[in-house]
Amino acid sequence: MKNSAKPSITKPRVLVVGRDGQLGHDLMRALSPAFVALGVDHAGLDITDRKATEKKVEEVKPDIVLNAAAYNKVEEAGRDPSRAYLVNALGPYHLAVAARAIGVPVLHVSTDYVFPGTKKSGYKEGDETHPLNVYGASKEAGERLVRIGNPDHWIVRTSALFGIHAGGGKGYNFVTKMLSLAKEGGEVRVVADQFTAPTYTRDLADGIRELLAKEVPYGTYHLVNEGSATWHDFAREIFRRSGLRTKLTKTTTADSGTTIDRPKRSILKNKKLKALGIGLPPWEDALGRYLTELHR
Ligand SMILES: NC(=O)c1ccc[n+]([C@@H]2O[C@H](COP(=O)([O-])OP(=O)(O)OC[C@H]3O[C@@H](n4cnc5c(N)ncnc54)[C@H](OP(=O)(O)O)[C@@H]3O)[C@@H](O)[C@H]2O)c1
Repeated sequence: MKNSAKPSITKPRVLVVGRDGQLGHDLMRALSPAFVALGVDHAGLDITDRKATEKKVEEVKPDIVLNAAAYNKVEEAGRDPSRAYLVNALGPYHLAVAARAIGVPVLHVSTDYVFPGTKKSGYKEGDETHPLNVYGASKEAGERLVRIGNPDHWIVRTSALFGIHAGGGKGYNFVTKMLSLAKEGGEVRVVADQFTAPTYTRDLADGIRELLAKEVPYGTYHLVNEGSATWHDFAREIFRRSGLRTKLTKTTTADSGTTIDRPKRSILKNKKLKALGIGLPPWEDALGRYLTELHR
């Protein structure tokens, strides 16, 4: 008799570290059903603890280790460089080495802040890094240590994230911050001399799933929503799409009261992934979908 049962296909198991962050949260949703997403939050694993990291990876035995955990408080990182380096550099190294010990690859998420922001045409993956502040330097060190710790790695750089789970990590993102400032009333002042590529974590998570599903070659990639904007442009679009008549004025980095140096034009170009058929929609479209989901 012919056996009509379908052969069982085992799905790759992905350990999502930093499950409760903005990106981690959307990755847990986006990876399924193509992958089995196994998440761990900060309480379940502190990546600065080498032994605990090795133990967790060894216990779970995933097919891929994905690091979405980070210390993202850019201003505070300047005042607490040891914490920034522990979480953003040593933590990713521990994960990369732990993945290598069980023979699996690691995907690590990095930032546009590894660049100095002087290139007008935008940064390609191979451009030279030169961070301007401690946060960027700690993330750049994380990239280097991941490359050293595990040759089987993907490093995905992104920028200016906004996601529904903004309660994790920093506790807010630029969009939720603008909306709460608008609620307070009065004038909102936003820098108009820094450009970025605003990126929705839901789209980024979908892009990362595609990258893994297509088994793109190991290496460093950029992945952001299409287009770019100054933070002032971004704020204007948030208020416009939310129907808010908040008074928005332009300010400069020099007058913004920031305590650290920030890149002026750190726009990432998704050159390598686009060539492989992976791209994200324009940021304005992403913002519209995000606001709809936020107010649902
Ligand atoms: N946010 C942005 O605008 C932006 C821009 C460019 C690149 N990125 C990169 O994108 C990735 C995701 O960012 P995100 O905005 O989703 O971050 P997020 O919301 O701040 O989440 C980060 C998560 O990491 C966890 N975490 C912190 N320290 C940890 C540790 N020692 N061990 C384990 N978990 C720890 C945090 O937990 P607790 O809250 O409990 O500490 C939090 O859940 C990061 O690599 C980040 O550098 C972000």
